Amino acid sequence: MAQIGYSKKVMEHFMNPRNVGVIENPDGYGQVGNPVCGDLMEIFITVKEDKIDDIKFRTFGCGSAIAVSSMVTEMAKGKTLDEAMLITRKDVAEELGGLPPQKMHCSNLGADALHAAIKNYWVKIGKIKQEEVKEESHEGEGGESCGT
Ligand code: FES
Repeated sequence: MAQIGYSKKVMEHFMNPRNVGVIENPDGYGQVGNPVCGDLMEIFITVKEDKIDDIKFRTFGCGSAIAVSSMVTEMAKGKTLDEAMLITRKDVAEELGGLPPQKMHCSNLGADALHAAIKNYWVKIGKIKQEEVKEESHEGEGGESCGT
């Protein structure tokens, strides 16, 4: 298999992912699919005093997607919901020390699933309306398939 240059951090999060699992009756739940490869990520959050108190993920995807999920949950835990909404796909990839170009699309799911979970919570508490929850764009960040 060709060596495509994963950072140490990606490997470490893939081998030892943080916050794996499911939260029963979460305050917020987000699920996104990656249109490039069909992989799927779910994020569950509980909220206390407007902060992410607990967060877990379940990812049916490649190693990079698992590393991204692990990293995004670590970045988001303890942050206020507004702060967590500012975490971008690029931030997650950068925190991981970068991803190989052909795996950049795998970094899309993390921030998108996190934002979906927060919006789900906001709909539940009446802060926003369901109609305001629109899919985040999956365009423009490494569109090519990685073939896994
Ligand atoms: Fe599907 Fe990486 S997220 S191949």
